[in-house]
Amino acid sequence: MTLLFPEDWIPQAVKTKLPDGYQIRPLDSNDYNRGFLQVLAVLTTVGEISERRFQEQYEYIKRARDTYYLIVVENDQGRIVGCGTLLVERKFIHTCGLVGHIEDIAIAKSEQGKKLGLRIIDALDGIAKEIGCYKNTLACAEHNQIFYEKCGYKRNSLEMGHYFQGPPSPIRNARI
Ligand SMILES: CC(C)(COP(=O)(O)OP(=O)(O)OC[C@H]1O[C@@H](n2cnc3c(N)ncnc32)[C@H](O)[C@@H]1OP(=O)(O)O)[C@@H](O)C(=O)NCCC(=O)NCCS
Repeated sequence: MTLLFPEDWIPQAVKTKLPDGYQIRPLDSNDYNRGFLQVLAVLTTVGEISERRFQEQYEYIKRARDTYYLIVVENDQGRIVGCGTLLVERKFIHTCGLVGHIEDIAIAKSEQGKKLGLRIIDALDGIAKEIGCYKNTLACAEHNQIFYEKCGYKRNSLEMGHYFQGPPSPIRNARI
């Protein structure tokens, strides 16, 4: 089994600060059965996702090289209790610079307050630096602003969204 990305891109300094028996690592294709989707449900609606659908999505993400960096925290019982994504955008501006987008940060309710959220952000920042991003950005709810400030982030712009009416069209892949 090949990993999404090299495990040693997650800073050792982050790993050593985890509670005993916990680990932080790239998302694994077996994490469906370790509670990954249940952790994401802390954040928003996940929907009904079969194991097969999960595997297909995982394989797609893995094939999209140098773009998706999904990490999880596994507790001492072998359950996923935290997760986060770094999505890397290749720009033309800033001399073809790389920007990291932090997405889908979630910690299981029973594990909140143990600095796991902070460790996940530190890990994603470390990976972004390792691969050459000049910054990471994220959007968050007002009530999480202090958390992200404690992770070193500063409020600097307004986030906007446009939710489209009706169900989404079937997914199309444009690669020729
Ligand atoms: C927000 C979330 C990721 C924080 O994770 P966590 O592991 O509970 O937070 P940590 O223990 O790492 O907290 C680190 C610091 O931030 C503070 N903090 C955490 N959440 C906070 C909040 N919502 N408001 C204010 N401070 C907060 C902690 O008190 C701690 O401060 P300290 O270092 O002074 O003790 C977690 O509560 C969560 O999953 N919430 C639901 C999903 C969500 O909102 N995700 C973010 C989407 S943008």
